[in-house]
Amino acid sequence: MKNEKISVIGCGNLGKSIAKGLLDDKDFSSENVIATRRNLSLIKDLEEAGAEITSDNCYAVSKSNIILIAVKPYNVSKIIKEIKPALIEGEHIIVSLATGLGTAEISEMLDGKFPVFRAMPNIAANIGESVTCICGKNSDQEQTAKVKFIFDSIGESLIINEELMEAATVLGACGTAYVLRFIRAMVQGGIQIGLDSKTATAMVNQTVKGAAELLIERKMHPEFEIDKVTTPKGCTILGLNEMEHNGFSSSLIKGIVTSFEKIEK
Ligand SMILES: NC(=O)c1ccc[n+]([C@@H]2O[C@H](COP(=O)([O-])OP(=O)(O)OC[C@H]3O[C@@H](n4cnc5c(N)ncnc54)[C@H](OP(=O)(O)O)[C@@H]3O)[C@@H](O)[C@H]2O)c1
Repeated sequence: MKNEKISVIGCGNLGKSIAKGLLDDKDFSSENVIATRRNLSLIKDLEEAGAEITSDNCYAVSKSNIILIAVKPYNVSKIIKEIKPALIEGEHIIVSLATGLGTAEISEMLDGKFPVFRAMPNIAANIGESVTCICGKNSDQEQTAKVKFIFDSIGESLIINEELMEAATVLGACGTAYVLRFIRAMVQGGIQIGLDSKTATAMVNQTVKGAAELLIERKMHPEFEIDKVTTPKGCTILGLNEMEHNGFSSSLIKGIVTSFEKIEK
């Protein structure tokens, strides 16, 4: 990937995180990263880190072969119209990060002439810990591997079928909010049983991180690890069962389904 030239069009919250991820990754050459937005003063740090910055999207496209479009969904068609004259068939790969915009719609804007990908990262892209789901249209394996490589620089990435993209958005992107609310509830419980907020937050954050890393490392089902910490008649199983009697798993599942139904509409 050292020779791939990548433009990130619209370096706001997400675009900037991705550009930073690429600049920090030794598999990419920083001089091959071009970042755009209209207000350049807000991406001076990317320039200091080695990227080229510009407000000229067509210039950025002419200097690169992989184009990440990170503007708001309502700006995507405007950006595509703007950069279309600079796109060369057989050379450019388009990746849209816009929520809810399908590859078919984007491909149509480009007259079906270019490989088009859709990628859905989450907010942890800011610290290189996103999970990004990717799907493509008019694309081959080599192009798919290149796009996956880019998103591996900001965490983990998965190639999925486009019909699962809405479900992936709920679990991967909305999922961050569900987990944060779970963390907040644990902190509140901790305060009620005597810990101060700062201590409870530090303990809960590390407990959640440790539990997730345990599963990632050991590749086990959560219940396997739960069995290890639930002594018969002990305090953990009593607490867990009380949570289940009050609808813990059920409310989480219902919330996920409700988000999904909303996104499907
Ligand atoms: N944030 C997330 O965690 C997340 C997760 C998944 C998907 N997404 C998707 O990612 C996209 C970006 O979201 P965001 O939260 O990063 O939005 P954002 O912070 O508003 O970033 C968009 C950027 O686009 C720039 N822009 C607008 N018009 C432009 C133009 N003509 N040329 C160049 N740059 C232009 C804006 O900067 P200037 O005004 O300076 O030009 C702005 O900073 C959205 O489509 C969203 O659906 C976001």
